Amino acid sequence: MNRTVISLSLTLLLFQVSFAFSQSALWLPPGSRTDAKTRIPELIDKNSAWNRTTILGKLLFNSPSVLGEKAVRIGLSCNSCHPSGHVNTDFYIEGLSDKPGTIDLTNSFWRDGTEDKTFNPVPIPSLRNAKETAPYGTLQILPTLPAFTRHVIVTEFGGPEPDQETLEALVAYMLLLEKETGDNRFIQAQTPSIRATADILSPAIEARDINRFDRNSSLFREELGRRINSKNEVAFKQIVQDLKKLRQTFRDKPEHLEKAFETLLAGLDQ
Ligand code: HEC
Repeated sequence: MNRTVISLSLTLLLFQVSFAFSQSALWLPPGSRTDAKTRIPELIDKNSAWNRTTILGKLLFNSPSVLGEKAVRIGLSCNSCHPSGHVNTDFYIEGLSDKPGTIDLTNSFWRDGTEDKTFNPVPIPSLRNAKETAPYGTLQILPTLPAFTRHVIVTEFGGPEPDQETLEALVAYMLLLEKETGDNRFIQAQTPSIRATADILSPAIEARDINRFDRNSSLFREELGRRINSKNEVAFKQIVQDLKKLRQTFRDKPEHLEKAFETLLAGLDQ
């Protein structure tokens, strides 16, 4: 590549990045901030192994799709307010926060019908040790994590009714979160491997459930997007190609699904 081509593609890249940035910024009042300034550790018992349900839960926790179209538009997931299951003390939406780390969730900004006509931002709580902090939320009327999680999605954000798999997985992930003990007992468990993450597709393949396959495969692709870097780029693009082939097999030759999935997984083992 000569220099002009390089600088041209760089300019194009920067343009795309700033465009994507301004797109989400367009939907938020100026002065707002939804990402945390520092990286927050995910405190999980180092001996607890990830499984298909907890991995799916982690992916859902990071996906704006769970919370509905408003959240998708501004790129907001559970993880934006509760990064790594803790609290984003930098979170601020002009007009909905009174100081960083607070938010008014009973405002029509989130969903028609939730407006309580008062500016009442509350501090975003940490979800560490959520297994022992019931009853949940400011009102403390919902005694269980599944019930409160459904309330967050449907009542607060106006998101789509979560199916059982979604609720179970989100709750399973939140139950892993531990509080700080000061003795390093709970340290960040290893991030699930790509191979283990691909396994969230298995139940849909087994059940020949194409909707569930589509949902979980887009969650998987979102995760690839979060983890992509210059070293794994080629391999990740291959995975995306294989996923597309798998989707075609689902539609055209379902009898070959297991074989096609094995091929995809074999690629990930290398
Ligand atoms: C815009 C910020 C924001 C987002 C996004 C968000 N939350 Fe929260 N969350 C809060 C605030 C504020 C509270 C406390 C007020 C309330 O809801 O009663 C809370 C409370 C909670 C609680 C109760 C904690 C306790 O100990 O009482 C749980 C559990 C929870 N959120 C889970 C989730 C999950 C799961 C998602 C994604 C599906 C999510 N939250 C998305 C801001 C957020």
